Amino acid sequence: MRSGRRFVLFVASVAALGGLLFGYDTGVISGAILFISKDFGLPTRLQAFTISVVLLGCMLGALIAGGVADRIGRRRTLLAAGIVFLVGALVSAFTPDEAMLLAGRFIVGIGIGFSSVVAPLYISEVAPAPSRGALVSLYQFAITVGILAAYFVDYAFAAAGNWRWMLGLALVPSLVLVGGMLVMPESPRYLFKVGNANRARSELDRIYNDPVASANEETSIVESLRTKHAGLEAFAQPSLRLALFIGIALAVLQQITGINTVIYYGPQIFEMAGIASDSASILAQTLVGTVNCVMTLVAIFFVDRVGRKPLLYVGLTGMFVALATMAFAFSQPHLSGTLGTITLLGMMVYVGCFAFSLGPIVWLLISEIFPLRVRGIGMSISTLANWVGNFFVSQFFLTMVERLGQPLTFGIYAALCVVTILFVRSMVPETKRELLEQIRVGPA
Ligand code: BGC
Repeated sequence: MRSGRRFVLFVASVAALGGLLFGYDTGVISGAILFISKDFGLPTRLQAFTISVVLLGCMLGALIAGGVADRIGRRRTLLAAGIVFLVGALVSAFTPDEAMLLAGRFIVGIGIGFSSVVAPLYISEVAPAPSRGALVSLYQFAITVGILAAYFVDYAFAAAGNWRWMLGLALVPSLVLVGGMLVMPESPRYLFKVGNANRARSELDRIYNDPVASANEETSIVESLRTKHAGLEAFAQPSLRLALFIGIALAVLQQITGINTVIYYGPQIFEMAGIASDSASILAQTLVGTVNCVMTLVAIFFVDRVGRKPLLYVGLTGMFVALATMAFAFSQPHLSGTLGTITLLGMMVYVGCFAFSLGPIVWLLISEIFPLRVRGIGMSISTLANWVGNFFVSQFFLTMVERLGQPLTFGIYAALCVVTILFVRSMVPETKRELLEQIRVGPA
């Protein structure tokens, strides 16, 4: 591997630790909550709030991260995210009471919100165009590794009921993230933006290790900075408004097609399908987590070869078929014996297809479609929309199942996959191998 490529892969891997913490910290609570509730004697309402408070932190973090990244730089913002993760893990693990635990989880949420904006933004800005898709998908891969690690850690500490270790172990990747970001380079694009051309050039040389490629890239970056528009007012311009609309819509669609019903409530869904024992449904959930992780590799391999849109079409079609099959299976009264198997297979297909399409590619596209001047703000707003979508789906999933039944609930998610396919077809640009500065939204 050429030294420039190795360098970029290393930088992207360190930044992707932000994704690992995102996955770990959102996944770990599902197992920990059982023991926290016992220790603190929590009523059901407080249990639910202990789970969801992290999402409120995510919203706040996402809202401010883009502005911070535009002001102090991508590298320092990711460093700040690492410190926030670290503090959150310590507060949560050593808390004397429930109030402090809520504060700790809220702080962790701010860290997740920060990293969900800045990690993909930073990776996409340091990546050379031909491998940008794979490198940003590495971030999604790290999310899935984090989720899976959380399942295993929960399982390992369940016998002792030690939720403090479950929450506290996030300290390890946080420390690596902080240490790593102390020595990582700043994004060359950010450096040009703030007028530090000399340092920007030397970072470009390290990335490309090829004077012609870095000179080309410099020309387009400098050219793109000629536009005066910056800040929120810039979104009055029609093409930027369209980019913002696409960013928000993709972020929301990623959530309202139902992924986190499976990630957060998998064991409950298996129980609804008649998989009765706790250990069988936890095992099934671990299988789903493994599929999620492994199938993300498909995106890493193909996203720069076949492009973003073809992967989205294939993945969304698979998600639709899996959801529609599950909706149908739940509507059949005589299936009881095989319903568990169909549900397990359906969930594996659904998650596997999400893992190589809507999962990584939404983060990738929202890091690509905004021009440099407004990239921080554009990503912040889109990511905030993602967390709001996440909050609503995860808050109302069980109520939806109770009021509408499983067939209609899964049927609605299936229909939303079709809406997403149509949206991608008509609105989303193909960004494969394009320099960030050449990407345009709207009619060609
Ligand atoms: C989504 C998360 C989800 C995860 C599952 C991410 O792309 O944003 O909400 O939990 O994928 O792997």
